[in-house]
Amino acid sequence: MSKPKVFSTKALFSSACAVLDRHVDAEYWAEVERISRHDLLRHIAQKDGLICLPTEKVDDELLDAAPKLRMIATASVGYDHVDLAACTKRGVMVSNTPGVLTDTTADLAWGLLMAVARRIVEGDAWTRSGTWSGFTFDTFLGGDVWGKTLGIVGFGRIGREMARRSLGFKMRVLYFSQNRAPEAIERELHAEFVPLETLLHEADFVSLHVPLLPSTRHLISADSLAKMKPTAYLINTARGPVVDEAALVHALETARIAGAALDVYEQEPKVHPGLLSRRDVVLAPHIGSATIETRTRMAQTAVENIVAFFSGRKPPNALNAPAS
Ligand code: DGY
Repeated sequence: MSKPKVFSTKALFSSACAVLDRHVDAEYWAEVERISRHDLLRHIAQKDGLICLPTEKVDDELLDAAPKLRMIATASVGYDHVDLAACTKRGVMVSNTPGVLTDTTADLAWGLLMAVARRIVEGDAWTRSGTWSGFTFDTFLGGDVWGKTLGIVGFGRIGREMARRSLGFKMRVLYFSQNRAPEAIERELHAEFVPLETLLHEADFVSLHVPLLPSTRHLISADSLAKMKPTAYLINTARGPVVDEAALVHALETARIAGAALDVYEQEPKVHPGLLSRRDVVLAPHIGSATIETRTRMAQTAVENIVAFFSGRKPPNALNAPAS
């Protein structure tokens, strides 16, 4: 019997390729340039499976172009780029990679928080510029991190790891989430469940960890930014459209908040021009999970899901249950 044909929009790490190649007839997009929509639709025409990234939209058009497709594994935890309902309707199974990137993403969020509060990136540029004239008492003054209040919006895996990191910084932790965490978790992480409004009013750092859903799009709007302290910072490692970027620029321009550190943007790879020249903003290029170890685990997890499916097993990270 011939093996199922799987297309991967990225040449995966060799450990993941080795497993995939043993089980399916795999084809990889090996160019450095990201695959274009045109090439993607062309390459999946006769494929049974697809491994994709958050930059590839899976919608009706793609599903129409791939009538044999039965399984899609996105090598990401976020799956807002996948029309899950359309996949389910057509009997296409979808999986993601939860768990394996939790700590790495929380690390990056923490790094951004530290960088913006302590002006590390700004200081780096100044040090390199050749104009630094030595220690001064009152320049590059940032805000303390230790002892402050951290507001975590979205208290899933990554949000909770953010709370854990704050323990070493003797911070007070407030969180807002769709569902309240079990008491034992709250106790362990010293985290207090509060309404979003309270969190925005009281937090010195507001860190976003919600998925992008219709209900979380522009969750951080002009209105929410107006509720934050003028000394507070916004950290976003979740998804760009959770923040109304134009409203954020306005809030920074009018000193409504003290700064922002972002890893994700409303229209990636475009960044609002109002953010680019600001010194009170730290910008990263969507690298929350970008470590060798984590990206390797993400590739392996995507492959494990595809292999499970084509071996007749339920993918461990299935997101839907389409009728077969
Ligand atoms: C994800 O996994 O959703 C990230 O945004 C990419 O690592």
